Amino acid sequence: MSSPWYFIIFPEKMSAKLQKVLVLLLMLLQDLQLTGASCSCSASTCHCDSQRLASIPQDLPVSITYLRLEFDNITALRTTDFPRYRNLHSLYLPRNHLTTIHSRAFYCLINLTTLDLRWNRLTCLGAETFIGLGSLEILNLDYNDISTIEEETFSPTPQLVVLLLGSNKLTSIPQGSFRGLTQLQMIDLFSNKISEIQLGTFSDLPRLQHLYLYQNRITDIQPGTFSNMTQLQILSLFFNNMTVVRSGTLSNLPRLKELDLDFNQIAEIQPGAFSNLPQLQHLGLGHNRMEFLPWTVCYQLYSRSRSVRVTLDNNPWNCDCRMVSSKVEMTKYCPSETIDQITCAGPAKLYRQKLQDVAPTDLNCLELTNAAADKHSLPCHFTYMLMFCAFAVELIAN
Ligand SMILES: *[C@@H]1O[C@H](CO)[C@@H](O)[C@H](O)[C@H]1NC(C)=O
Ligand SMILES: *[C@@H]1O[C@H](CO)[C@@H](O)[C@H](O)[C@H]1NC(C)=O
Ligand SMILES: *[C@@H]1O[C@H](CO)[C@@H](O)[C@H](O)[C@H]1NC(C)=O
Ligand SMILES: *[C@@H]1O[C@H](CO)[C@@H](O)[C@H](O)[C@H]1NC(C)=O
Repeated sequence: MSSPWYFIIFPEKMSAKLQKVLVLLLMLLQDLQLTGASCSCSASTCHCDSQRLASIPQDLPVSITYLRLEFDNITALRTTDFPRYRNLHSLYLPRNHLTTIHSRAFYCLINLTTLDLRWNRLTCLGAETFIGLGSLEILNLDYNDISTIEEETFSPTPQLVVLLLGSNKLTSIPQGSFRGLTQLQMIDLFSNKISEIQLGTFSDLPRLQHLYLYQNRITDIQPGTFSNMTQLQILSLFFNNMTVVRSGTLSNLPRLKELDLDFNQIAEIQPGAFSNLPQLQHLGLGHNRMEFLPWTVCYQLYSRSRSVRVTLDNNPWNCDCRMVSSKVEMTKYCPSETIDQITCAGPAKLYRQKLQDVAPTDLNCLELTNAAADKHSLPCHFTYMLMFCAFAVELIAN
């Protein structure tokens, strides 16, 4: 409805010819702006977010050290994309449609320290993918569709400190995947489909502090899997399918502070499972399938310090005779906040009572239902037999 902007800005007295030339020039400039840098750039940074760009623009200042293209439409990274931008330290490409990284695409980016490829559609990482990234420290690959990591994928990136692979489709981690990453401090593998961890997967990571493996399908972890991880502080294993905590799997971790095993199917804790965790501050064992807590767990956890926070809620605790000796010893070593979380799921007459409130005489095996007696027949029958013998001896004596 109003006249075009270029008529408004020109004084009326200007000659018609000059006006035409100027208009042409301005239109040309406007066009250039659209095709070239819809990015906003300074000498050292460029932001090209939400421009529907289908490839890396090649007309940005070559001096940039920081480049960000978020919410664009890049599907592939090619060998020709980055040679102009050798000074890059940080490259952010989240929320594109990346499916392919051509071999040696990052070849020239020898000073790159941060690479963010979150929320793309990558499916496979190979030995050629990260070639050239010898300075890379942070690699974020969360929220892709990665199902395959080929051998030697991370060999070109020995300086990695943080490696994020959460919410992908990994079912296993090939042995040796992380070999040589001697600077690595954090690996995040949450929400994959990992069911098995091979012995040695994490054995060559002397600086690893944080290992996140939650929301996977891990059923068992072999003793020795975390040995020699002297710097490990956080080990997060909640929402997996573990049924047993084996001796020698989670013990001897001198710096471990957080051990999260909530929401598994753990029914058994083997002797010494938590021994020698001198720095432990939190142990999560809630929402599992434990019927019985060996008092030795209390002894291992609390013999050095009373400040460990343990969660034990939502387990089907069976307050039967096995708990008798355990409760007495438990009370010696575990603080009452810890024992207070044990709510009996059985036998029926103690249902929903707290173990704390159950009198030791109520924990005897004579009261056991047949079903519970079948499950723990040995110690219960043994108690029974002893009592019977005592009774018999008494009878004879009289
Ligand atoms: C993204 O790129 C693809 C092909 O490269 C094209 O078909 C699609 O229309 C583009 N989407 C947008 C939003 O530009
Ligand atoms: C990489 O960084 C080093 C040290 O800061 C510098 O000397 C070198 O010129 C940089 N190389 C490139 C290609 O930017
Ligand atoms: C732990 O380290 C020792 C000594 O460095 C080595 O002999 C042993 O094989 C390592 N164990 C594992 C499981 O890597
Ligand atoms: C893991 O546990 C979940 C929840 O109990 C179950 O639905 C799933 O089938 C289990 N997966 C495996 C691989 O055992």
